[in-house]
Amino acid sequence: MSKFHSDISGFYKLSLRERQKTLSELVNLDDEEVKLLKNFGYFKETQIDTLIENVVGSYQLPIGIACNFRINNKDYLIPMVIEEPSVVAAASNAARIARKHGGFFSEKVDSIMISQIQITNLTDVEQAKKILLENKKNILKIANDQDPILVKLGGGAYDFELRDIYTRKGVMLIIHLLVNVLDAMGANVVNTMAESVTPYIEELCEGKVNLRIVSNLAIHRLAKCKAKFDKVLLGGEEVVKGIVNAYEFALADPYRATTHNKGIMNGITALTLATGNDTRAIESGAHAYASLKGNYSPLTNFEVDAEGNLIGEIKIPLALGIIGGMTKLHPMARLNLKILGVKSAAELSQVAAAVGLAQNVAALRALAAEGIQRGHMALHSRNIAKLAGVPENLIDQVAKKLVKDNKIRIDYAKEILQKIIDKKNL
Ligand code: MEV
Repeated sequence: MSKFHSDISGFYKLSLRERQKTLSELVNLDDEEVKLLKNFGYFKETQIDTLIENVVGSYQLPIGIACNFRINNKDYLIPMVIEEPSVVAAASNAARIARKHGGFFSEKVDSIMISQIQITNLTDVEQAKKILLENKKNILKIANDQDPILVKLGGGAYDFELRDIYTRKGVMLIIHLLVNVLDAMGANVVNTMAESVTPYIEELCEGKVNLRIVSNLAIHRLAKCKAKFDKVLLGGEEVVKGIVNAYEFALADPYRATTHNKGIMNGITALTLATGNDTRAIESGAHAYASLKGNYSPLTNFEVDAEGNLIGEIKIPLALGIIGGMTKLHPMARLNLKILGVKSAAELSQVAAAVGLAQNVAALRALAAEGIQRGHMALHSRNIAKLAGVPENLIDQVAKKLVKDNKIRIDYAKEILQKIIDKKNL
């Protein structure tokens, strides 16, 4: 009878070694597998055991370096953690193409996070709004008292927005506490601030505060980046046209827009992971932003300039930090931040936006050029058939067979022709 079951109480109370032993017995691990589990890589056993709960081992992925990036007139090497081949090469390739016209140009990013405070059970929403606005200073002070260092460095809660939303349980008033979190990702700080103001807000509004939590739709932390991709380096006019048509497809169709944005996130998520940031926060923020206008849309847009070059632009909320969370705890995240050489969270977001744009252009170029390549092959096969002496009335038939069998060669064209003749003579 199998010993396997999942009903383990107090797994967390065991030491890491005891957990590994329990697990190996439950799923019957062999010696090689146990050895693998005991390899913590660059983590110290005591360190990895404190990062999450019920730790049994460490999981590794490759780090690749995307080259050629020039962003706001500064060169960067981009560490990317990803399991998918071709992503790093593709990013490097698009960055090389953008470099010809100066690289990427990213706008300043403000590290503003939103913390949502949900107020329910209000009898008079308008009155509650009025009281909250009258006491704004006090509310912001209570919030800022939670993090004097942040305030001293120039950050902190500086304002709030009020939104009434209509739900099946009645109207609710939502406060968006706006906090400049400087170099942090910021979820912890804004959550603490929102919790701290709750008793005062309940007293002021005579309502019940329910949720107090960061919004991952960080629309005040938008990264915007632009680049010119050289027409010739992209592969010519037809390729540029193909990319623009691919973009139009994504604009008009959410099925395509999802994959279009997935390509963007290939780059951004790989950099997010490499720097110890929260990939889920970035992904959810990006996809929510992509659908903010009602339709799920591409996060990039493209146009062609007077010389035929491709102008690409990306707009994406990027709540990335260089302090706090895993950014300093994870040895490889620390090292990757050193490779990147970014001096602030805002700079990291500027870089990430460029990586997303590069990744998107690389994917669209490969897709468009491959389509064009097939077209070229169809043409090429007709020429080969002609060179093989195939008569005009059989060229179509032979050319199709060459493409179908992926053997666009004169000798094969002759072989096919002979078979056709033999069949006819039968
Ligand atoms: C694959 O990981 C990403 C692509 O599908 C993106 C795209 O289709 O634009 C190539």
